[in-house]
Amino acid sequence: MSIKEEILKLKKEKDIVIVAHNYQPPIVQDVADFLGDSLALARQITQIPQKKIIFAGVRFMAETAKILAPEKTILHPVPSAGCGMAWMIEPEDVRRLKAQHPDALVACYINTTAAVKAECDVVVTSASALKIIEKVDTKKIIFLPDKNLGRWVANHFPDKEFIFYDGFCYVHNYLKPEDILDVKKEHPEAHVMVHAETPPEVWEYADIVTSTSGMIRYVEEHPEVKEFIVGTEVGMIYRLKTLFPDKDFYAVKRPMVCRNMKAITAEDILRSLKEETYPVHVPEHIAQRARAGIEKMLELTR
Ligand code: 13P
Ligand code: SF4
Repeated sequence: MSIKEEILKLKKEKDIVIVAHNYQPPIVQDVADFLGDSLALARQITQIPQKKIIFAGVRFMAETAKILAPEKTILHPVPSAGCGMAWMIEPEDVRRLKAQHPDALVACYINTTAAVKAECDVVVTSASALKIIEKVDTKKIIFLPDKNLGRWVANHFPDKEFIFYDGFCYVHNYLKPEDILDVKKEHPEAHVMVHAETPPEVWEYADIVTSTSGMIRYVEEHPEVKEFIVGTEVGMIYRLKTLFPDKDFYAVKRPMVCRNMKAITAEDILRSLKEETYPVHVPEHIAQRARAGIEKMLELTR
């Protein structure tokens, strides 16, 4: 029996659900019950009836799942698989910013630890940030930690004042216009989709700047376009090819690989199913405060 067959058999026998982010390795995507971006997966967690869920994604995603479903067992197969951006900010940094700008709303990207979320008013993802900021009355917003996503959101709200933090994603932040233009020379008809975590200097070369779910929607909404250049983590290319086998998707020239997303292997998923490794715990005093901001996001984007 192949490892894939073994996983499929065991998850059925044990009634364990596997949810996976769009950046997960192909084999993990293939065995997942639900695939999505960070917003869709957070929402999905609240709707899964099973008691045990394996979360194939980075640490903050598994923590978010546990915060939203504290009564369930959330298993994170590789607990050390964290997000480099989430590690760039500590709760003290948020408290310092709040002390400097007491009249501001604190919007924090979902790519943060639970302890940082506990300091924030509302959580956002790249797919939900515009909708959420549009709905809040506050004129002044502390947006953290991603400076690029923050700038992209701020560009849509010229009447609001934004305070940024100097965080970034090491996978997206170094994308350069040439990385796109070199591929565009080979495929001049291709539309360019880049993630909102990429830096502002590449946005003018993109047909759309968006989240991973936004890329799927863009392909759906442009049936006449046959080729796409994808400026985000490579796992997304596998996801897009699986969803749209008749279209061509090209990676940008710079390798975009999130080591921590790729740290979860099929063997880890199998062990997680067999040994129920490793349950996620978030201290209740942190979970309670972090939950408010996450639930606010789900409510404002319903
Ligand atoms: P999405 O919410 O667009 O899936 O992005 C999550 C992420 O970590 C991007 O690097
Ligand atoms: Fe974090 Fe970047 Fe990896 Fe996304 S791609 S999980 S932001 S390090």
